[in-house]
Amino acid sequence: MIVAIDGPAGSGKSTTARRVAKETGYLYLDTGAMYRATALAFLRRDREATSEAARAVLPDVQLGVKHERGEMRILLGDDDVTRAIRTPAISRLTSTISELRPVREKLVEEQRRIARRFASEEGGGVVIDGRDIGTVVFPDADVKVFVVADPEVRARRRKRDLEADEVSVSFEEVLADIKERDRQDRRRDIAPLRRAEDAIELDTTHRSVEEQVQFVVDRIRERRRGE
Ligand code: DC
Repeated sequence: MIVAIDGPAGSGKSTTARRVAKETGYLYLDTGAMYRATALAFLRRDREATSEAARAVLPDVQLGVKHERGEMRILLGDDDVTRAIRTPAISRLTSTISELRPVREKLVEEQRRIARRFASEEGGGVVIDGRDIGTVVFPDADVKVFVVADPEVRARRRKRDLEADEVSVSFEEVLADIKERDRQDRRRDIAPLRRAEDAIELDTTHRSVEEQVQFVVDRIRERRRGE
C-alpha cells in the first residue's frame, strides 16, 4: 500500500502522514527531509546551488533513512542530521536545490527504492509526504491526498514547530518564508507543487489533527476494501 500525501509547507501534511503511519502500522517516509539533508551537504561543501555543483556534490551524498520508536531519522553519511536540517536557512536553500534536475533525479530514484522496500514487507505499506509524490514519484499510488491550508494558519503551525525545536523566529519571518517557498515550489519547471488530478483534497485550515488523520485512514480503509 502506497499512500502519497502532498501539499505546501505547514499545510499539516507531515503531522498527518506521521500519525497515519502510526495508526496503520505503515512506515513513514518524509521526502522533504531527504531534500533538506541534501541541502545541508551543499552547505557543508560550501557549494552554490547550481547543476554543476550538484554533479560534484551528489556522488558523495549518502542518505540513510531509519526508524526509531516509530520516528523517521535521516542520516547524511553516518551523521544523524534529523534536527540540523530544521532551520530557516536550510529551508530556503532546500527550496533552491530542489529545483535542480540532478538533485530531483537522484532523490526520486532513492525515494522509489526505499518506499518499495518498505511496502514489500509483509502487511507493509508506506506513507510518503512531499510535493510531487502523487504526480511524479508514485503516480500509481493507492491513495493520494493533497493537503491545503490558509497561509496564516500554516505560518502559525510552522512557528510552533520551530519553537518546539528551540528555534526562535518571528511570525512575519515565517509567513514571508512560507509565501516565498510556495512561489518557488509552484513555479519551478521540474516537478512543481500541484495537485494530481486523482488526488483528494484535504483542507486542514479548520480541522483538528485527529480529523485529518481520520480522513486519510478512512480513505486507506476504503481502498483496502476495494472501493
Ligand atoms: O516538506 P519540507 O518543508 O520539509 O520540504 C522542504 C523543501 O523540499 C521544500 O521547499 C520543497 C522541497 N521538496 C520537494 O521539492 N519535493 C519533495 N518531494 C519534498 C520536498
